[in-house]
Amino acid sequence: MWIMPVAVITGASKGLGRALAGALAARGWDLLLDARGEGALREAAGAVSAHGTRVAALPGDVTDAGHRADLVAAARRFGGLDLLVSNASALGAEPLVRLEALSLDGVRRALEVNVVAALGLVQEALPLLRASGTGAVVAVSSDAAAEAYGTWGGYGASKAALDQLAAVLAVEEPGLRVWAVDPGDMATDLYAAAVPDDDGPRPDPAGVVPAFLRLLDERPASGRYGAPSPAAGRR
Ligand SMILES: NC(=O)c1ccc[n+]([C@@H]2O[C@H](COP(=O)([O-])OP(=O)(O)OC[C@H]3O[C@@H](n4cnc5c(N)ncnc54)[C@H](OP(=O)(O)O)[C@@H]3O)[C@@H](O)[C@H]2O)c1
Repeated sequence: MWIMPVAVITGASKGLGRALAGALAARGWDLLLDARGEGALREAAGAVSAHGTRVAALPGDVTDAGHRADLVAAARRFGGLDLLVSNASALGAEPLVRLEALSLDGVRRALEVNVVAALGLVQEALPLLRASGTGAVVAVSSDAAAEAYGTWGGYGASKAALDQLAAVLAVEEPGLRVWAVDPGDMATDLYAAAVPDDDGPRPDPAGVVPAFLRLLDERPASGRYGAPSPAAGRR
């Protein structure tokens, strides 16, 4: 019997997470989807389930250890876990501000969501990912992890930390693929909250999904990858 691959995607109620969920379901993946807002998450899961695979919506905050355990337990009930996508993210300030004005609590929140929770989920998921045989982790990063853009310092520092976690995880878990992926600028609520005055054209998140699918198809070595979009800007 063919067993469907299973993925956990955090931050899947909108934006990139939702677009990726739809594309994976269309390819036969069973999915566990997370976001805090229950209504939007259930609506997204309903739409994604139209592809006929099993799609479970588990509302919760990735910073909640009990919620992370629930996500992995739900994957176990689906038969295992082949892919973990850490996509949920916090900016630390909305709109973004210069470091001199950045609230330290905001920085702590960005680190808690973007780094600590991502590591916590990996720790919870490792036994299932190792057992998969094709286990993979995608850490959704940002150009702000590598480039010094004014006002993007707290968020960028958290994404740089996420990149380093992914790089070390790849060394420690050679049986897995661990990809940190910079999706490039996308027209999403996160970008609008970060820079409300920047209404320049940006691609829809659906446009970067093929680059994520290519990673799954080609399974290149663990490392940091970009998902080039037609837009010039990247964060
Ligand atoms: N948009 C860009 O230009 C851009 C550029 C580079 C990198 N990225 C990265 O791409 C990823 C996706 O961002 P996006 O632009 O698609 O954002 P988005 O459209 O705002 O979606 C963010 C998703 O994460 C969920 N979320 C946020 N905080 C959460 C938490 N603590 N626990 C659980 N879920 C949470 C949100 O739902 P709730 O609010 O209901 O929880 C939503 O489903 C992020 O990692 C972001 O840093 C984005």
